[in-house]
Amino acid sequence: MQVSTCLFALCSAVLAAPRQENLLRRATGSLTSWLAAESPIALQGVLNNIGPNGVDAPGADSGMVVASPDQVNPDYFYSWTRDSALTFKCLTDQFLAYGTSGLEAQIRDYVNAQAAVQTIENPSGGLCTGGLGEPKFYLNQTAFFGPWGRPQRDGPALRATALIAYARYLISQGESSSVSSIIWPIVQNDLSYVTQYWNDTTFDLWEEIDSSSFWTTAVQYRALIEGNTLAGQIGESCSNCVSQAPNVLCFLQSYWNGEYIVANTGGGRSGKDSNTILASIHVFDPDASCDDNTFQPCSDKMLANHKVLTDSFRSIYSINSGISEGSGVAVGRYPEDTYQGGNPWYLCTMAAAELLYDAVYQWKRIGSLNVTSTSLAFFQAIYPSAAVGTYSSSSSTFDSIIDAVMTYGDSYMSIAEKYTPSNGSLSEQFSKTTGSPLSAYDLTWSFAAFLTAYNARAAAMPASWGAASASLPSSCSGSSASGPCSTATATFTSGTLTPTCSAQPSTTVIFNELVTTTYGTNIYLTGDNSELGNWSTGSEAVPCSASAYTSTNPLWYCVATLPAGTDIQYKFIQVASDGTVTWESGSNREYTVPSNCAGVAEVNDSWQ
Ligand code: NOJ
Ligand code: NOJ
Repeated sequence: MQVSTCLFALCSAVLAAPRQENLLRRATGSLTSWLAAESPIALQGVLNNIGPNGVDAPGADSGMVVASPDQVNPDYFYSWTRDSALTFKCLTDQFLAYGTSGLEAQIRDYVNAQAAVQTIENPSGGLCTGGLGEPKFYLNQTAFFGPWGRPQRDGPALRATALIAYARYLISQGESSSVSSIIWPIVQNDLSYVTQYWNDTTFDLWEEIDSSSFWTTAVQYRALIEGNTLAGQIGESCSNCVSQAPNVLCFLQSYWNGEYIVANTGGGRSGKDSNTILASIHVFDPDASCDDNTFQPCSDKMLANHKVLTDSFRSIYSINSGISEGSGVAVGRYPEDTYQGGNPWYLCTMAAAELLYDAVYQWKRIGSLNVTSTSLAFFQAIYPSAAVGTYSSSSSTFDSIIDAVMTYGDSYMSIAEKYTPSNGSLSEQFSKTTGSPLSAYDLTWSFAAFLTAYNARAAAMPASWGAASASLPSSCSGSSASGPCSTATATFTSGTLTPTCSAQPSTTVIFNELVTTTYGTNIYLTGDNSELGNWSTGSEAVPCSASAYTSTNPLWYCVATLPAGTDIQYKFIQVASDGTVTWESGSNREYTVPSNCAGVAEVNDSWQ
């Protein structure tokens, strides 16, 4: 048993460490605490929106994803093929990276649900007559017949990518037969849709413009490449994937205007659009280099585009005013946007961060970094002395630039942190003038966007899909090829995997402490566990965040991930700017770390 209090003189001696360093640690400590706290909330937020058991998806069929539980202005109580596929790509990567056991049952429910959704006759057509391009369905798997921007041709490609991510895993587990019988028939229909219609116009992902869209073309390319690879692995083929993919890649190049990517061929806008960074993080391949043709995150074109796009939001949102050029801002869909007030979106802001984390990963893996005349302005904004050249990972310039890009990425996540309410809910938008959450609440895609950015920051990267094999034909041709299409009849048997998620080995505990402090004083959490610093009052103690602190609700919160089931003792301490430590009075606080499937818990205390 450790001592619970220490001699005042001793503690202050220990803490009379240089103050500057302490402040610096607090500055970064705040983002990392928030990320740790938000991560289980985001995962739970996604799961809450999936039928049949999600608490915010009442009445939704098994495996159907609710875009948001919001049913009024806007009514998002539907299942979009795009949102659902991006969500399940995220959950599959989460399952693969962390082995979160309960997720696999949900992934199988999604596969089964999509086999059924493919067959629903809808205003875009039937299974083999264009119906796969229908954007959204009711949660009981029936068609929506109201007016809508349709078709949206990204859906089938995104669904193929999500299903293929799980198929790869099954193959690695020796379960190719379920891939052949259950997943491939669904994927094959989606690939046939893409090979037939990629060269036709489409409503874009924002459901507004009917033209060609960078996002749609990029995600279609990815699906064709990995679809063909999957086919080869299970003794099938996709000859149309082989014939069409080069033309799709060729067309993809045409969106680049020399300075940035013009996101849509129609619409009469500037073309600066988050569609482009979302596409880049979607086609990110950890094994690809900084390939320009597939617009990888570290490609010079994508970096140049990142700057032009994010800069376009600097002057139009007042919450961005005063933020200097090299620091992240709130990012929206596109600068001309007026939908629901035309505000910044959480998922776009976090995508801007994710792209930078992906780029850092690629440079480190390649072992060098290129600054070209195309990307120079991007680099100079965050590292003013940047110059055109190639920097090997053994050079100090490489290290400095990598640090600057990571910091820049974190500055976008800090914007998301700043405008996320203390309960962690992520809406669709946040006000361009006040930063308060707006439009659909608890948007599934916002939570998924948090998780993918979080994982990229932690270098927990998704599998390669073969981007490195990209070869560009010397001339482009618009073409089309219709392929096999038939109802996918086989499904995973329900109940073979536990449908509910099982308890996690550790729990991220958010310790809330109401305590009024004066400027310069910081709160730390310390206790009898190594994660809590073993009663340290120095650098081992857990720094708490005042990011939600107000005079009427003086909330400090601290985050620690602790072994589930452990009994702990803890206390909060105040550390004044001169290093003086003040302990809470009374006996030590006691707590048993709960064990639950979300791996998250919250404790509410007030200074004693
Ligand atoms: C003509 C282009 O050649 C083709 O590739 C494109 O998809 C269509 N226009 C639709 O915009
Ligand atoms: C509107 C967005 O523009 C679209 O991309 C999304 O699919 C739906 N909301 C549902 O979240």
